[in-house]
Amino acid sequence: MRALTVDHSVPSRLRFTEVPDPVPAAHEVLVEVAAASVNPGEVQGLLPHAPDGAVPGWEAAGVVRRAAADGSGPPVGTRVATVGPGGAWAGLRAVPAALAGVVPDGADLVAAATLPVAAGSALRALRDLGPLLGRRVLVTGATGAVGRFAVQLGAMAGADVVASVRRPGREGELARLGAREVLTGGPPFATAPVHGVVETVGGEQLAAAFALLAADGTLVSVGRASGADTVLGPAVLTGDAGAHGRSIRTFYLADGRPGLDADLGWLAARLADGRLEAAVDRTAPFAEAPALLAGPLPPGKLVLTPQG
Ligand SMILES: NC(=O)c1ccc[n+]([C@@H]2O[C@H](COP(=O)([O-])OP(=O)(O)OC[C@H]3O[C@@H](n4cnc5c(N)ncnc54)[C@H](OP(=O)(O)O)[C@@H]3O)[C@@H](O)[C@H]2O)c1
Repeated sequence: MRALTVDHSVPSRLRFTEVPDPVPAAHEVLVEVAAASVNPGEVQGLLPHAPDGAVPGWEAAGVVRRAAADGSGPPVGTRVATVGPGGAWAGLRAVPAALAGVVPDGADLVAAATLPVAAGSALRALRDLGPLLGRRVLVTGATGAVGRFAVQLGAMAGADVVASVRRPGREGELARLGAREVLTGGPPFATAPVHGVVETVGGEQLAAAFALLAADGTLVSVGRASGADTVLGPAVLTGDAGAHGRSIRTFYLADGRPGLDADLGWLAARLADGRLEAAVDRTAPFAEAPALLAGPLPPGKLVLTPQG
């Protein structure tokens, strides 16, 4: 098969080349990849440390060509969205059946390829906040891949979603996705206290969002898109204004919690019924990825396809 492989001798660290087909383990399905999405974490965090020759890529959607030998998971011909530590940027992917969610016919596989990491993280981070009906939830980095899904899923769960963005101009789009309130250019955030935060930016945004929590509220720290460290000063940490018992919860999608196949299937069904919107800003063939990813990661969501 053709695949992108790690090659540290070129600027993008990627080469599009011929490699042997993956051999699935008994608990794995073999998926013919139709589309694979690109995440900042894998380009900036993972690629520099991956060994030469490895096939990177966390998430891909496609069609099962060989069912798992142990009988688990979807049968041959099922459309699936998959996630795993690598192997997605290739024509074929072997992936545990437990990490493959069924994609209904009504959902586009290019859009479905963006679900596992971003929507999966948004879903599970929101769950970590507890019941959301009638509660205020702040989503930072709301224009990002995780943020946009968190806004939509938070609203779907009954929360009044407050979306934070760094630049003006996206207010209408976020309101359409379900945000009740859009804060532009913060921090500090000029709004009423919130019950929970899905935090994806880090640095000052994390500190300001933590300061906005009501008593017993939780901030789930999903990411650090700004790259900035966070300083929590005494004024932010002191709970003497009635905001006692606040907590910061770490988050990792690949923490081994079961049910990711069901979560991905649920998200794909929401794509199919039109209640969830995936943003795909650009598609490109695998062959173009080495050129596209040679410099800083282009803004927006990039999806790679085997044929272009
Ligand atoms: N823990 C996990 O398991 C997990 C899972 C998924 C993602 N993540 C992490 O979560 C973060 C978000 O991922 P993503 O896929 O949503 O990334 P993304 O699509 O690149 O979105 C990043 C968001 O952060 C905003 N942003 C970036 N720098 C900023 C700054 N200096 N000040 C204010 N806002 C800033 C961007 O705003 P603009 O739109 O204005 O650029 C955008 O809204 C990343 O750090 C990623 O690695 C972690």
